[in-house]
Amino acid sequence: MTPPLDPPDVVGSSTAFARLGAPALAAIIDDFTERVCTDTMIGFFFRSVDRDRLKQLEFQFAARALGATDVPYEGRPLRAAHAPHPIRGGQFARRTRILADTLRDHEVPADIQMQWLAHVEKLRGQITGEADSTCDPPAPVGPVRVSVDADGNESVPGDSL
Ligand code: HEM
Repeated sequence: MTPPLDPPDVVGSSTAFARLGAPALAAIIDDFTERVCTDTMIGFFFRSVDRDRLKQLEFQFAARALGATDVPYEGRPLRAAHAPHPIRGGQFARRTRILADTLRDHEVPADIQMQWLAHVEKLRGQITGEADSTCDPPAPVGPVRVSVDADGNESVPGDSL
């Protein structure tokens, strides 16, 4: 007889991976990857990426992050995998938003959601050099003062820089 995935007597001390169970994690990753790959803001990154392979590697990576010790991660190190893709801070934030929405929709326990999202934030430096939603160049703040000289020429501060 197959033992239950999450026997009640080990719930208190088991890892987040064991509490979720592999089939539920696979369903979450499947949904999340589909949402990411078809997203209007960041989907373009994945146009030529093998989606089934990505799902498999995202599953392995998440499983380990959530405490699995018997699931090997067979992908590249994150820094190497993402280096060819110039990812902005806002695009990193977008993926995190999609992950948070997916975890909520799958009714993942709140403590596991927090653990997962905190882990993602710790990895930011391996994915992008930017802090959250950095704009480059910085947008002007407030009204722009236009000066007109005696000959009627208009200028704004910074024109001569
Ligand atoms: C902490 C956040 C992230 C994690 C944990 C993560 C995880 C992964 C993993 C496990 C892979 C497979 C590695 C491999 O191909 O060997 C991968 C690939 C990829 N990720 Fe991420 N990722 C993150 C953030 C992002 C973001 C923010 C973007 C873009 C908005 C992104 C875009 C991609 C792309 C395009 C690939 C395919 C790389 C290629 O085949 O060239 N990832 N990611």
